[in-house]
This record gives sequence, structure tokens and C-alpha cells, in this order.
Amino acid sequence: MENNAADIRKDFPILSHTMNGKPMAYLDNGATTQKPESVVQAICGYYGGCNANPHRGAYELSVKATDIYEDAREKVRGFINAPSSRSVIFTKNATEALNLVAYSYGMHFLKAGDEILISIAEHHSNLVPWQQVAHATGAVLKYIYLTPDMNIDIDEVEKKITSKTKLVAVTQVSNVLGLINPVKEIAAIAHKNGAVCVVDGSQSVAHMAVDVQDIDADFFAFSGHKMLSPMGIGVLYGREELLDKMPPFLTGGDMIEYVEEQTTTFAELPQKFEAGTQNVGGAAGLSAAIDYLQDVGFDEIGRIEKDLVDYALPKLRELPYVELYGCDTKQDNKTGIITFNVKDVHPHDVATILDSEGVAVRAGHHCAQPLMKYLGQNATCRTSFYLYNTREDVDRWIEALKKVRKVMHLE
Ligand code: ALA
Repeated sequence: MENNAADIRKDFPILSHTMNGKPMAYLDNGATTQKPESVVQAICGYYGGCNANPHRGAYELSVKATDIYEDAREKVRGFINAPSSRSVIFTKNATEALNLVAYSYGMHFLKAGDEILISIAEHHSNLVPWQQVAHATGAVLKYIYLTPDMNIDIDEVEKKITSKTKLVAVTQVSNVLGLINPVKEIAAIAHKNGAVCVVDGSQSVAHMAVDVQDIDADFFAFSGHKMLSPMGIGVLYGREELLDKMPPFLTGGDMIEYVEEQTTTFAELPQKFEAGTQNVGGAAGLSAAIDYLQDVGFDEIGRIEKDLVDYALPKLRELPYVELYGCDTKQDNKTGIITFNVKDVHPHDVATILDSEGVAVRAGHHCAQPLMKYLGQNATCRTSFYLYNTREDVDRWIEALKKVRKVMHLE
């Protein structure tokens, strides 16, 4: 069944723009999503009518800004089913959220000889911080490798985890492979072994319903800009008892209780982790984005993305020079990400030729160099769908792909 993305597209004026004189097929949603008019209006509405520093002023405008900010927190709480708004921390993005966990939890509670277990499919933002923790504390960083169909195998997790494992960090959906990982089972194994479980939800929250209590994640991180919201707002959910015992990550204004000349006591959650003036406009946009996503519904979003993947894959498989990665999963766990290469053509050249046809895809290592090495590639191209993409976008992508080898004089 063709999707109803045609209606949804009307809410995203940018999609009717051209790129290189051609209608634009925006297929780089894994990098960032476009924003619906309601999100743009929420941001403009905040700056146009409610802008003031939250939590600081006794005057009406500041109270309004505080309400917008705290209402957004409550909206996020419901969106991921966090048990309390105290456990929802606003950050700049998922990277900052994961660094917060690495610096405030990892650096303080891990020690030499402890083990950190992550998957080989992690984005650098859920990998480099753990390397830093390992280097600083003497902990050992270990990897979960993948099955031939690119999935995380629970047996491999059981094999790699030991009584020394203190922290397990995995992505719910790989930004390269687009496969959903069994994070609930992984969290259960982590807990059985006395480790905490950190879940990177950057590529999942915009595409599927997420319940942090059902997953039983100790920490869950995501960025707003990959879910229809502005850049510069992200979220860390953390289990309250862990957040309570962690020291602040950033210090300064708004995160204190009392400051003496030599010492400081800190504010309660969540303010303890929100130093400095916060991104209220971003929070307003995130709140409007959640409304939009809940209005469309994740069943529909999943159906749209699955329709596009099911439509595209047979067409791609007809092209003998296209190599696919993560597309042969034997489980029903594929999201709308298709990673590929064109034989004998550098991915950057592929992306540039697609660009000349108005088709936007990402090329490069996708901030996942260890995974690239594991796949035996330096780089790949990546197409990532979202709720406003159509079969016409897929057709334009495939037609442009057919030109690549001709432009490169390989045919
Ligand atoms: N993390 C983003 C991506 O995968 C930027 O493209």
C-alpha cells in the first residue's frame, strides 16, 4: 500500500524546495529530520511572545518561559514513559547526554579492572566516551560482535559479560545498519550481572514507541533534531537513584543550592545536571514535535518506513553493482535505513552524483569507524527514510543511482 506521506508532506514546506534545480528527495533523516510548520511556529512563538530566562525571574514573562520549559519536560516524560520528570534531563543532544553519563557515572564509579561492554555497531558518541572512561580509570572496553546478518546475538552478550562488567552501552537502532537491537534483553542480562545499561535511542525514538521502564534502561539518550525538533536540544533519562548519587557534569549557574567561598551544595534533580541558561525555545520545539509524532502515531510511521524499505530493496537488488549492508536480517527488525555502496565508486562520488539529481543521502563513515572496519569498508552511502518520504522519492533515488557508473565512465 502506498503511504499517506503526501498529506504529511504539506506540513513540511522545505520538502517542496529544489536542490540543484531538481525536486528534492530528502533521504538523510538519520542525520537530521526536517521540521513541520507546527514546530517552527512553536519556536517562533516562544521567541516572539514568551522569551525570558527560566527559573530566574519573579515576573510574568519568566514564569511563562519556565512553564514552557517544564511542560516540555513533562511531555518528554510521558513520551518515553519515564517514572518522574526528575529523571528527565535536558541536554544539547544525545552526544552530550552520553558524555554526561560517561563523566558523571563512568569516571566516578568505574575502576581499574572493571569492564565496559559495548557493541561494534555503536556511533562514536556511544563509543569514544567509553574509551575515555577506560583510559582514565583503567577499565577494559570490550565489544559485542555481530551475527552474519548483522544483528546482536544474545548468546554473544552472555559470552562477553562477566562479573567484572560494570556498564553495558548499546544503541537501540544502529545508525548504519538500521536494525533494532534487543535492548530489553540486553538490559536484563546487564542487571543480572550487576552492570548498569546505557541505551542510545538517537535512531529509535523518532521511529518507534519507546518505554524506558519496559526496557528497564538505567540511562537512555536521544537528540531532538532527529525527531522533528530543532538542533541543540536533547534528553538524558536516568534512573533517579543513580542520578542522585552522581556528581554534576557541568557546574555554574542554576545547578546549585548554596555557594560559599570554597564549597557548593547542588540543586535537586533535574536542575543539578542543567547548568547555565537552558534552551527553552528548543524545548518548546521538542514539545510540539512530540505532539506531531503522537498525532501521526508510531504504527503509521513504522508502516510508512516499512513500505519504503520493502519497495526499495527489490529494486536495489536488481542492480548488480549495488552492495547492501544490514539488509539481510532474518528478523523483523529493520527500520528505514538502507546502507549501500556502488561497486568501484567512492561513496562521496555516489552522493555527489545523487545530489546533482536532487537526491540527498549521507556518505562517509557515519561516525561509526569501528563498524566500517568490521564491514571491511572505509565508507558507505546511507539512505534514511522518514514519515514524509514517498515511493516517488525512492524512484528518484534508484534512477539517479543507475546513472552513477555511467557518469564515472565505468559503463
Ligand atoms: N548521527 C548522525 C548520523 O548518523 C549525524 O548521520
